[in-house]
Amino acid sequence: ASCLHTKWLGKDLYCYETMDSTNLEIRRLAEAGASHGTVAITEEQTMGKGRRGRSWLAEAGAGIAMSFLLKPQIEAQNSSMLTLVTALAVNEAICETTGIRAKIKWPNDIIVNGKKICGILTEMSLQMDEINYIVVGLGINVNIDHFPEDLSDKATSLQIEGGRKIKRAPLAAKVLECFEKYYDMFLKTEDLSMLQDEYNKLLVHTDQKIKVVRGSKEEIFLSRGINHRGELLVEDEDGKVSEVSSGEVSVRGI
Ligand code: BTN
Repeated sequence: ASCLHTKWLGKDLYCYETMDSTNLEIRRLAEAGASHGTVAITEEQTMGKGRRGRSWLAEAGAGIAMSFLLKPQIEAQNSSMLTLVTALAVNEAICETTGIRAKIKWPNDIIVNGKKICGILTEMSLQMDEINYIVVGLGINVNIDHFPEDLSDKATSLQIEGGRKIKRAPLAAKVLECFEKYYDMFLKTEDLSMLQDEYNKLLVHTDQKIKVVRGSKEEIFLSRGINHRGELLVEDEDGKVSEVSSGEVSVRGI
């Protein structure tokens, strides 16, 4: 913790050797009265959760598995933008600590060379339609030298891309510092007006064809970047632009 230069994030910091899931742990801590900015980080995660009910493996010592607790006074409908805020923070932290220039796949996968290096899972607890608390969890593949065959064309690590091992504590600290900065910018307008341009510069697939999957329906669009609410603008073959929001769809490059 001595290398952590934050104002409020991680002042309450819980470090574990092993844990089922840091998102679950932050929920438990929140229910027990933990405060805004509490962080949980673990060496190994045995029941890591991914998006869409998938699991997220975190082998002991190889990655960063970290979650934090937020209690923002914002409209519940605006909370999904925090995932995009987190993606910006992770991207900047990776660049500053390793020099690797990653990209973002909307809404929140961090990509290097077309493969995923970090995943983010934001969960919300509501009380009478208002935000009770939000859990932001992120998993970064750091010192992993290879992936099993079924993952090797989809996943990569900082070690594979940078050719050397990376110290995890300074990277984790940098993620928290960058998050504070971007979170402040988000709160000023409660949207991404100040962050949209930066996000769009990092976005993969812009002006390319993407497949948008809504339930069993698949459509092809041109990706046109995000708007200030973090929705992805997509253009159909008649040139008509519409928005998709992150809860409802999955987007794939084709
Ligand atoms: C994804 O599917 O891309 C999201 C993966 C999120 C994984 C992280 S690891 C730390 C935190 N705890 C969890 O159980 N999941 C998130």
